[in-house]
Amino acid sequence: MAIPRPYRNNDKNTFGEYTFTHRWSIIIKNILKDLPDETNPKVVEEIEQLGAELSSSAIVRKFNSAELEKESNLKVFNEYIDAVKDGKDPSIEWLKASESSPIGSEMTWSNGDWLFTEIYLYRRINAIILKYGLIIDVFDKLKTDTFLSSFNGVLDLCDFYNKIDTEKIDDEEIKYTLFKEFISVSLWGNATDLSLLTNLDLTDLQDLQSKESRMSNESKILVDDTLAAWEHIKKSNGKTVDIVCDNAGFEVFSDILLAFFLVDFKVCEKVVLHVKDLPYMVSDVMIKDVHKLNEILIKWGKDNKSVAAIGEKLKEFLSSGKIALNDNEFWTYYHDYWHLSHADSHAGKETFDVLKQVLKSFEETKMVIFKGDLNYRKLCGDRMWPKTTSWESAIGRDIPANELIKNESDKIVYDLQKFPMLSLRTCKADVMVGLKSEEQDKQLTEEYRNMKRDQELQPEWWASSGKWAVVCFNKN
Ligand code: F6P
Ligand code: MG
Repeated sequence: MAIPRPYRNNDKNTFGEYTFTHRWSIIIKNILKDLPDETNPKVVEEIEQLGAELSSSAIVRKFNSAELEKESNLKVFNEYIDAVKDGKDPSIEWLKASESSPIGSEMTWSNGDWLFTEIYLYRRINAIILKYGLIIDVFDKLKTDTFLSSFNGVLDLCDFYNKIDTEKIDDEEIKYTLFKEFISVSLWGNATDLSLLTNLDLTDLQDLQSKESRMSNESKILVDDTLAAWEHIKKSNGKTVDIVCDNAGFEVFSDILLAFFLVDFKVCEKVVLHVKDLPYMVSDVMIKDVHKLNEILIKWGKDNKSVAAIGEKLKEFLSSGKIALNDNEFWTYYHDYWHLSHADSHAGKETFDVLKQVLKSFEETKMVIFKGDLNYRKLCGDRMWPKTTSWESAIGRDIPANELIKNESDKIVYDLQKFPMLSLRTCKADVMVGLKSEEQDKQLTEEYRNMKRDQELQPEWWASSGKWAVVCFNKN
């Protein structure tokens, strides 16, 4: 099957276009609002300039030598910008078949690929912060304040976990029921993404954290491969479960509960949480955010036994290594995850080495769980797939070997790196696959037309509303 091109910021009537024209400027304003008072005015000025570049659809410039000196891996972004100018589709250059219509001229904020420019935006913000020698997370305040307002949702989950009889490890039915429950907790934990605060309010997010909301949302899960994932995980000889995390706060808390269940019920020996190495996509989780969350739980625990028990348990899991934290830099590269199943040297020697490190970290895995919307977009290459495309096709797992351009120097590692993976995503972007029929798309459009409150949002954007979700599993 020919491979469609990625979504671009100027694709008419897409949520990507709306994000480019409306949402990014709000995110930039929020960063400026939350900067500590004593911040160097030059930082403010440069972030404002970045906002102006964006709104004037300026050329997406390459990172300069001073920026590369601080973060050498930014050069992969420059390579992408060059490749686009040369009329290439940089993500799948190593494939023979593609329907791509490359840009073939300077990339601008308007004609650029949505996925690439969005990631580039966060790397530019980080480069400004580093340029002035600051060690701050510009999203820290928002992440912390929002978690502090999630107490009720957290307490519900603590009470639920503490009531579970962890002696029942041999009862298969109970184990599956709990697996299903914690997959659902972790799935809907993703609904509370802070970048959506540009079009939801805090009360909406708090509503999404309740058990009632999770239960009433069961019909909103459009693809549900939970059983297939369970059948696989039960039989697998691996030792770990890997979670490629998404957001800090309530979402990572929900992932931690899934990890508790997996270890307590001996489904695996340990869970590795793969987190970001820098502030990213507003709410994404970093190692320090997990430690901060633990401190907050322990503080809350002074007045509440149930929360105290979970806070202490997390502390113990982190110190004993039953939960490990890994922040490989690959997760803040622009690369989509077709690179993970077809690791190739086209991305450059250093990137190839980083990729190999990631794949090595999955060596003992039973399953890699990819959390959230951005990971789903990266799994599908953020391409304009017809919504009825199969999951295997969209994630590039069904490409016949003869479609890959192979030669000695390419060193394509094909077939070797296939690991079982599960995507847990509440849908917040245009890319959507796995629908049963085109009719289903029309029905969902009508459903969203009657449900949405904001006039600016189009009914066709149901897949970007965060109101529906998918659980997609792929064994190999
Ligand atoms: O699609 C909207 C969006 O804000 C994107 O900018 C980004 O892909 C995503 O949502 C972030 O969501 P998540 O935290 O679930 O990856
Ligand atoms: Mg996120």
